[in-house]
Amino acid sequence: MPHTFRPGDYSVFLGNLQDTFPAWLRERADSQMCLLADENTRLHCLPHFFEKTGLSPNTPVIEIPAGEQHKTLASCELIWQAMLDARLDRQALVINIGGGVIGDTGGFCAATWKRGVDFVQVPTTLLSMTDAAIGGKLGIDFQGIKNTIGVFRNPAAVFADPDFLQTLPERELLSGFAEVIKHALIGDPALWQRICATGFQVRPARHACDGPGSPSYNGWLEILRASIAVKVKIVQDDPFEKGLRALLNFGHTIGHALESYFMKTDDPLTHGEAIAIGMICETALSGGDAEAIAAVIRRHFPNRPIPPAIFPALWDLIQQDKKNAAGKVRMAIPGSEPFRMQLLEPTREEVEQCLIFYNGIKSV
Ligand SMILES: NC(=O)c1ccc[n+]([C@@H]2O[C@H](COP(=O)([O-])OP(=O)(O)OC[C@H]3O[C@@H](n4cnc5c(N)ncnc54)[C@H](O)[C@@H]3O)[C@@H](O)[C@H]2O)c1
Repeated sequence: MPHTFRPGDYSVFLGNLQDTFPAWLRERADSQMCLLADENTRLHCLPHFFEKTGLSPNTPVIEIPAGEQHKTLASCELIWQAMLDARLDRQALVINIGGGVIGDTGGFCAATWKRGVDFVQVPTTLLSMTDAAIGGKLGIDFQGIKNTIGVFRNPAAVFADPDFLQTLPERELLSGFAEVIKHALIGDPALWQRICATGFQVRPARHACDGPGSPSYNGWLEILRASIAVKVKIVQDDPFEKGLRALLNFGHTIGHALESYFMKTDDPLTHGEAIAIGMICETALSGGDAEAIAAVIRRHFPNRPIPPAIFPALWDLIQQDKKNAAGKVRMAIPGSEPFRMQLLEPTREEVEQCLIFYNGIKSV
């Protein structure tokens, strides 16, 4: 049975797409539909999507190149041009099939097309199922700075089906797992205990997920249900990030700076790898138990030393963070109880100290 969440004026359906999407679509009267995918999700996810939803494979598809480096104005232009060519009107529905990059970029293009058309998120990465697709934050990077241009606008619905994890590369699966860790630390001690338990594996022996009904599929359903519940609770409490929602940025102030910096190198970090390091550093900054998070991170993520030579560049990027105010760097990190928040205003020296702490953690 699918599980339904209500983070706002829309539903998040968790379960087999076949049991959710066709019934939902039958209730609508969209004039036109178009799908947005990247090169990978077009190949790996679209056939599955058509098969499960019964939608015609002739539905127009807009494709953009894959990856964070394409979460840009250039991709938006490509999408808007394709919308123009398809004469997409204001009653059209845009279906975003992909990870956070497709969801954020496609959602932003839909939200601004003719002052906004409806869009649906069909997340295909662990990160987008648990986090990016929910909550209505949309946007793109600008001049290499993450999520600088964007809007808040809720999707018409979100359809999360762990079946898509079957084809997701291991590094991307782990990237999403960082957000699952974040949600556990923010609001679900039982989920955190489960993750910490010896023997917990992100990827079972063969691949991430077999089909619906299999133990791996059901395992992902349980983890996603717990993790999505944390995101949904925060978004319900604070849809426009005036307070508690800032907690979802735990690990992201330092994480985004690392992600932006390494994006321009030959060895970029995934979003989750950057956030994993950010969570260790920000917990260390707060005087919390960074060792506990580091122990879990060390089991699942590769070691990635941060050269002290890049600390000044990282500080510059941290100063660009949207949460900063009155010239001060601001970070939100979990408090001592679930769904409680502490705000930190660290200095440059303190940030450097926590990066040095991270570099000192021995890998297993
Ligand atoms: N809007 C929000 O609230 C929010 C929250 C968290 C993160 N984000 C954003 O999400 C983005 C990261 O998302 P992501 O990690 O999903 O990255 P992504 O969208 O780049 O996807 C990662 C890679 O996996 C491929 N892929 C996706 N699904 C696949 C599948 N099922 N099988 C095979 N390959 C597949 C993609 O083509 C891409 O190469 C960042 O830009 C981040 O800022 C947004």
